[in-house]
Amino acid sequence: MIVAIDGPAGSGKGTVTKIISQRMGLVNLDTGATYRCVALASLRAGLTLNDEEKIVDLIDSLDIELEHQNGEIKVFLNGEDVSKEIRSSEVTSIVSQVSSIVPVRLKMVDLQRKLAKGKNVIMEGRDIGTYVFPNAEVKIYLDADVEERARRRFKENQEKNISCTYESVLDNIKKRDENDKHKEIGSLRVADGAIIVDSTNMTIEEVADKVEKIILEAK
Ligand code: DC
Repeated sequence: MIVAIDGPAGSGKGTVTKIISQRMGLVNLDTGATYRCVALASLRAGLTLNDEEKIVDLIDSLDIELEHQNGEIKVFLNGEDVSKEIRSSEVTSIVSQVSSIVPVRLKMVDLQRKLAKGKNVIMEGRDIGTYVFPNAEVKIYLDADVEERARRRFKENQEKNISCTYESVLDNIKKRDENDKHKEIGSLRVADGAIIVDSTNMTIEEVADKVEKIILEAK
């Protein structure tokens, strides 16, 4: 079974996906983490967004793995645990553009499909229901007002000791929304057959309950 959860940054996808994967025993696949690994590797290699070809060349030297430990996803890049580093503001500020590079997307989609093979998964991202798994049994588009999403992401960063201001988070989210909605392939949009859940005025538990109900009904 494939449950696709798409939506913009800060809509609650990550948290809800984590809760549902634990409640329902589905493997949690965070597809954004795969793009974040490419962005991190590019920064480490001293590349900028002008070095598209070099970024694409770099991918073949990357081994990206998602491991599940005590309900958390650990992200490994060439064997190194980069779970925290991929959330840094440096990575966050370039990841949407890195993920717009067509060969990067094609390779990451390939990897994401492989990671899901033969498993019951809940996958979160931007293009899961539209492009990665258009035949997913359940498709949910999670949304929320942009200021609310920025407030959530700012709070989350503070809890994780990631330095930022509310204004910088809001600005980054607006830019990513714009970029994520206008990609050549896999742009963020509501998939055919997706159920839209607006989480602006809902608690995370309420959202999780609603998503669980949608999955149970689809089963
Ligand atoms: O979900 P996230 O914030 O970790 O995602 C990081 C970036 O990766 C996001 O700005 C867009 C991109 N992304 C994508 O293009 N397609 C996906 N399936 C997941 C993420």
